[in-house]
Amino acid sequence: MLKSLCIICLTWGWVLSSSFKKFTRHQPTQHDPTVSLRVMVHPTVENPLYVASSARIRSPTSNPFFFTPPSMMWLLDFLYSQLVFTPAYPTISCAGQTIIVTGSNSGLGKEAARHFAPLGASKLILAVRNIEAGGVAKDDIQNTTRCDPDSIEVWHLDLCSYESIEKFADLASTLSRVDVLLENTGVSAKHWEVVQGHERTIAINVISTFYLAMLMLTKLKSSAKKFGLRPRLTVVSTEAHS
Ligand SMILES: NC(=O)c1ccc[n+]([C@@H]2O[C@H](COP(=O)([O-])OP(=O)(O)OC[C@H]3O[C@@H](n4cnc5c(N)ncnc54)[C@H](OP(=O)(O)O)[C@@H]3O)[C@@H](O)[C@H]2O)c1
Repeated sequence: MLKSLCIICLTWGWVLSSSFKKFTRHQPTQHDPTVSLRVMVHPTVENPLYVASSARIRSPTSNPFFFTPPSMMWLLDFLYSQLVFTPAYPTISCAGQTIIVTGSNSGLGKEAARHFAPLGASKLILAVRNIEAGGVAKDDIQNTTRCDPDSIEVWHLDLCSYESIEKFADLASTLSRVDVLLENTGVSAKHWEVVQGHERTIAINVISTFYLAMLMLTKLKSSAKKFGLRPRLTVVSTEAHS
């Protein structure tokens, strides 16, 4: 076990250091757009919490080992978080709250929704682009958590369409409150594809994600004022998808 771990560490160390060398030699071209974005606003009742997010995009022609940040610390962090650190299960009460999780018919979004469900939220909205898959996820969450069947709703949201995002935000504005908007949807496009005038990964992970966030700010702020709560807006990301 220890021997295998050492071999994995050494291999990854070699891959990362060689990719770093390639990266530092690499000169950006017009085909190699790099976009970085960081947002951080501190939480108050007036200003709901916006969590930092970053995005970086590579063109299909650029270095496949385009890791950021390219350092051994990344490897150590990764090993620690995967092998050593176990986050505690959430136990706080979400009674009376309205929680929205995007991309929640599968993967981490579905698991996040499964964790929210038993915490007593009045409304848990699965925001998905495939309503049928959302329904299957809803049944699965209900069966495994035994939460109130009426507390979970499936809403349509396609981050490849501004119209869909606007419709979703309009509908959400009719809710009595929104406590949590968990923007989990994230993709890692394997091929170059343009969506609404932008490369698909940047279109979904950044532009649409922050467009939805901007449209939902009014609702989050009004919920904060009306109910004296601290709403949460969380953007999930990963180095692998950026
Ligand atoms: N998996 C990891 O190890 C990991 C690690 C760190 C961070 N993350 C982050 O966690 C988030 C979820 O990752 P995951 O691994 O759970 O991904 P996943 O299993 O591929 O799930 C992505 C979700 O996003 C939805 N989605 C894709 N395109 C969409 C669109 N245009 N409009 C609306 N929804 C769309 C997918 O719906 P469909 O089923 O319809 O495609 C799916 O529900 C991502 O932001 C990712 O960057 C993942």
